[in-house]
Amino acid sequence: MNIKELKIEQVKENKDIPFKLLKMADPSREQIESYLKTGSCYIAKHQSKLIGVLVLNSVNSTTIEIKNIAIKESEQGKGFGKVLLQQAENLSKELGYKKLIIGTGNSSIGQLALYQKSGFEIDRIDKNFFLKNYKEPIFENGIQCKHMVVLEKKM
Ligand code: COA
Repeated sequence: MNIKELKIEQVKENKDIPFKLLKMADPSREQIESYLKTGSCYIAKHQSKLIGVLVLNSVNSTTIEIKNIAIKESEQGKGFGKVLLQQAENLSKELGYKKLIIGTGNSSIGQLALYQKSGFEIDRIDKNFFLKNYKEPIFENGIQCKHMVVLEKKM
């Protein structure tokens, strides 16, 4: 797939925020609302159809974080996630950041694979992050999601 075929554009109006997609990556509406206040939300379109979402949030002058990334279920497994990650990196570089970070659950096996295949390295574990910040227990792949694995990519 040609990377140029996936176009990202910043969402300017609250009504255009694709909450359904954001909820696929993050079950907590509260958490989503909180990082949307300070972050920038982008939608990804393929052949003019909305297929993905990305939220970037500045951590400090050199580091930016992917707070949310999701590809519509029917479009998953086709390489779009990888391309969207690449675009997040390109955009972060253009904005002048030197490091891109992303956090995921200890139970998110596929995501851990994808991020490491895309050049991210595990930096640290935020122990019990999901137990402390999410009201409902989360299970994936038969594993309880308790800890946040934080990965980083130097650009
Ligand atoms: N073991 C090894 N590799 C795995 C894997 C596993 N269990 N599960 C996935 N992968 C790999 C795939 O093989 C592929 O790599 P490859 O191209 O080298 O084969 C890669 O991960 C997936 O690539 P891609 O098709 O680009 O991903 P995608 O378009 O499905 O998007 C997500 C990935 C995570 C964005 C998408 O699945 C999604 O939206 N999930 C729900 C929301 C979510 O969990 N967001 C992230 C929150 S941290």
